Amino acid sequence: MEASESFLAPWTGFFYWVGVAGVAYWTVLLLRYLRYIVRVWVTGNPGAVGPHLGAWAVVTGATDGIGKAYTEELAKRGLKVVLISRSQEKLDQVASDIREKFKVETKTIVADFQDRETIYSKIKAGLEGLEIGILVNNVGVSYSYPENFLDVPELDKLIDNMININCISVCKMTQLVLPGMLKRSKGVIVNVSSIAAVSPTPFLAVYSATKAFVNYFSHCLNVEYKRKGIIVQSLVPHLVVTNMSKLRKASRFRPMPGWFVKYAINTVGLESETAGYPYHELWVWLIHMLPRWVVDESATRLAVKSKYNLLKKQKAN
Ligand SMILES: NC(=O)c1ccc[n+]([C@@H]2O[C@H](COP(=O)([O-])OP(=O)(O)OC[C@H]3O[C@@H](n4cnc5c(N)ncnc54)[C@H](OP(=O)(O)O)[C@@H]3O)[C@@H](O)[C@H]2O)c1
Repeated sequence: MEASESFLAPWTGFFYWVGVAGVAYWTVLLLRYLRYIVRVWVTGNPGAVGPHLGAWAVVTGATDGIGKAYTEELAKRGLKVVLISRSQEKLDQVASDIREKFKVETKTIVADFQDRETIYSKIKAGLEGLEIGILVNNVGVSYSYPENFLDVPELDKLIDNMININCISVCKMTQLVLPGMLKRSKGVIVNVSSIAAVSPTPFLAVYSATKAFVNYFSHCLNVEYKRKGIIVQSLVPHLVVTNMSKLRKASRFRPMPGWFVKYAINTVGLESETAGYPYHELWVWLIHMLPRWVVDESATRLAVKSKYNLLKKQKAN
């Protein structure tokens, strides 16, 4: 008995301190995580976006879904808004609702981002002389349903459109707006990417790759210009109830666009890349924790299921 006690004696001290170090490490991690939750998702940064950045906001894809929700939230904060999308009728309707509800000036520009040749000179003319404080590069398109790359209907068209709308628009709009922000040493650019940028998404290959482009572009620009007073944020949401997602019913994990934007806008200045919504951030965390093959396998199962459901719905209509 005495012999074993004397044998273990030096080790009990060692294990005791390993235990203390472990508990201290996990306590620090937990406290840092709690601080992050309170700072980003409870208090947020509601003062970051407002007319102090510049009188005008510009939103691409402003007539529906997430873009419309940004337009409304920005107008609510007292910014005048330039709305850009394809249909003058829809633009007029949304602009007039906003003017009536929030008593702010609006401007509309009709542009189809499929076209990369002519629209940017038109948009440049439309933005001339405006003091732009925030640009939301929101416009984006996805597949009608998940599919193997070579089996995507009208593949050539899809490749061109997706690159023009999802990637070129982000670069070109930034090229138009950033110089004015730099002159005033302030401004915010929010680029709406997707969780498909965080996790390569099989069966949505072109979409996933275009969103990774947006994510990398945003990250680089944020580093290049943050010392000059410009914030560039990449949003990587999971599913939101919009025409694109073809979801109709909201849930905790699948918010309505207005609810999503209320959270996302308060992360500006706190997070340069974020899912924008606490429950979506859990997905991002899970993707980083799980082995790659598990994520690929579940993405494949989900793609097969949603292709089946979407084609069934299409046939029924
Ligand atoms: N919904 C989601 O679950 C989800 C998840 C992750 C990321 N995102 C991203 O969020 C962004 C917005 O998606 P959303 O779901 O809100 O889409 P949405 O509901 O389909 O709305 C798209 C908006 O863009 C406009 N638009 C579409 N094609 C256009 C074009 N060629 N030129 C100009 N405007 C065009 C539409 O207006 P008109 O039709 O009148 O032109 C509409 O205002 C996208 O970048 C998407 O990739 C969405």
